[in-house]
Amino acid sequence: MSDVQPINQREISFHQVFAAEAPSNIALIKYMGKSGNEKNWPSNASLSITLPELRTRVEIEKLGDNVQDYWEPLQKNGWIVPELSLKGQMRFLEHWKFLKGKWNVEGSFVIRSANNFPSDCGLASSASSFAALTLAAKEVVEYLLPNELFSRNDWAQLSRLGSGSSCRSFFAPVVYWKEDLLDVWEWPFGPLLHDTVVVESTKKHVSSSEAHKKIESSLLNMGRAERADARLKKLKETFVDRDWPSAFQIIWSEFWDMHALFETSEPSFGYMTAASLEVLRDIHGHWQEFGDGPWVTMDAGANIHLLYREDQKELYSSWKHRWTSLRAESLGRDL
Ligand code: DP6
Repeated sequence: MSDVQPINQREISFHQVFAAEAPSNIALIKYMGKSGNEKNWPSNASLSITLPELRTRVEIEKLGDNVQDYWEPLQKNGWIVPELSLKGQMRFLEHWKFLKGKWNVEGSFVIRSANNFPSDCGLASSASSFAALTLAAKEVVEYLLPNELFSRNDWAQLSRLGSGSSCRSFFAPVVYWKEDLLDVWEWPFGPLLHDTVVVESTKKHVSSSEAHKKIESSLLNMGRAERADARLKKLKETFVDRDWPSAFQIIWSEFWDMHALFETSEPSFGYMTAASLEVLRDIHGHWQEFGDGPWVTMDAGANIHLLYREDQKELYSSWKHRWTSLRAESLGRDL
């Protein structure tokens, strides 16, 4: 994408609003570790499933001149305001500043955002947030420069500079990401049900951005990209063969690989809690008994993501209930 100097830039009027929404995504093969001089350049290829029902909405509104750009929660019916730390707000605004600078967008703006899922539901909202912010900026740029066309991939790459995993939210249903390549895979298993077992809703001590740096000290990081590639290859085969149980095994090994990187970093850190292990053991037991069950994965956190096929709806519902009681127990409060 070339740097564009706007000529005859249109005026954005006072209080004019540009809005966009973007979905979240959950990685089956994890992006963990960065390399190179370019920002958020992944050390290894990753693969995610886009979760279209979990979304972030961003609205950008033009303010009067000589005001500093700022972030505030978006108050809208049906949307849940995120708890964004000051650091999180700065990071978000920094990305907006970068996008503004790229097209010399003039003036001051307020950025508002909200999710349609609670921020303590265990899903990193940074992927959907940065994707939605970039897509709202796209609305601004397309208003100012209606004749300039950029591909969805171009926008995804810009979003990646804000937060790596956000670039996968630009596509669906299954997205492969390696360096500046984003590729869509076919999804062979029909409608999918997603659930998160929230065993820990407090803020994590080590953000995923920090984790990317810390794992460089782990000896297990040697060979990490090769292991991820090998799993990707095998996972692709399970998609072709529609082999749900073999895919489960690969996805299971993959998140343990990432958590082993955390635990073997020097100094070590980790996210797994006793409650996470209890849930994992339970699910593993179910797989051993029945040879079937949900796919399981974990991000850089203690919560557990479960993916079910539609024909596993009953299991999904009964386990949702079971986990709710476990969650209440482990958090020590009624939910
Ligand atoms: C564990 O995309 O949050 O969720 O590029 O620094 O913003 P930054 O990191 P981020 O990393 C996500 C890590 C992960 C795995 C994944 O989504 O692939």
